[in-house]
Amino acid sequence: MPNNTSIENTKPILEVTGLQKYYPLGRGLIGSLLSQPKQIVRALDGVSFSIKNGEILGLVGESGSGKSTTALSIMGLTTPTKGQILFNGQNVIEQLKGKNRLALRRQVQMIFQDPYEALNPRQTIFKIVVEPLEVHSICRDKAEKKQRVITALEQAGLKPPETYLDRYPDELSGGQRQRVVIAAALILQPQLLAADEPVSMLDVSIRAEILNLLRQLRDNHGISILYITHDLATAGFFTDRIAVMYLGRIVEIGPTAEILQRPKHPYTRALISVIPVPNPRNRRERVILQGEIPNPSNIPVGCRFHPRCPVAIDQCRKIDPQLLPEASIHQTACIRADEIMLDKKE
Ligand SMILES: Nc1ncnc2c1ncn2[C@@H]1O[C@H](COP(=O)(O)OP(=O)(O)O)[C@@H](O)[C@H]1O
Ligand SMILES: [Mg+2]
Repeated sequence: MPNNTSIENTKPILEVTGLQKYYPLGRGLIGSLLSQPKQIVRALDGVSFSIKNGEILGLVGESGSGKSTTALSIMGLTTPTKGQILFNGQNVIEQLKGKNRLALRRQVQMIFQDPYEALNPRQTIFKIVVEPLEVHSICRDKAEKKQRVITALEQAGLKPPETYLDRYPDELSGGQRQRVVIAAALILQPQLLAADEPVSMLDVSIRAEILNLLRQLRDNHGISILYITHDLATAGFFTDRIAVMYLGRIVEIGPTAEILQRPKHPYTRALISVIPVPNPRNRRERVILQGEIPNPSNIPVGCRFHPRCPVAIDQCRKIDPQLLPEASIHQTACIRADEIMLDKKE
């Protein structure tokens, strides 16, 4: 876990406020005949967070919680139904409509889960990594382009970089391919990387290498990172702060050490309780959640987590708990959070 005191006072590079993304679903023939109401998938249902300059924020949650939709919204690859995204104080949704679209696109780059799908098997590594420069018409000088490709490969830890230029993706391992994907993102010198499950397709043995590489990029070049994962253990390993998502909302957010050592939300507690620990004496009591994450076209009334919550009370069926904006560095959307913390201390 990095020491994040140096970034505590810096300005946010990204500020997301009240982000909603609703997908209307077709009713189908029978639904139309019966005049059933149109179903809506509430993929994001009011998501707010910020990332400071040079910070690594983990966005953690089960599959279907809205993590990728959040990243795609930030990248301008999907238009939110509602909400605001500010990048360096500029309104992303407005900017993407205007002339500055490409300039903005350069500054935020995304790394996807599957390094096999991301790379065109018929292109050499040089061609793949140089392509973003060409798309953005950044530099025309051939020698300079080659130099920038070499620098990007080197930053991505592919050494010696020259030996990769004429190779093809299928000559490389999964870890090397993901490094090529990272090099192609770095060549534009972005300020923010959104990495969506960047290591979940890779062998366990090389996951830490890739995460360490990402951390070095932050340490050496000040790149901010949104690290998206379903795996709280890897998030604990290399983020400064963690936001826990459940069914289109952030239910808890705070400094990584706080979240791991003093989790307040029952959902976060359940996620932490199943992280494997090497020493069986330190094993925590496992909280096995009932059932699956509900369908976001049918979000439970009251607290959206209450049907699966081991400590839900009657009020939880009625009150939809919110994160208090800027109230403290560790925020939890649970009406019982403080009570549960007190229980634990006794
Ligand atoms: N284009 C779409 N149309 C309808 N529903 C979608 C679409 N994209 C995502 N969803 C739904 O939105 C929810 C959140 O998806 P996603 O952001 O991919 O979650 P995660 O990345 O956390 O697994 C899921 O229930 C998913 O099925
Ligand atoms: Mg996803």
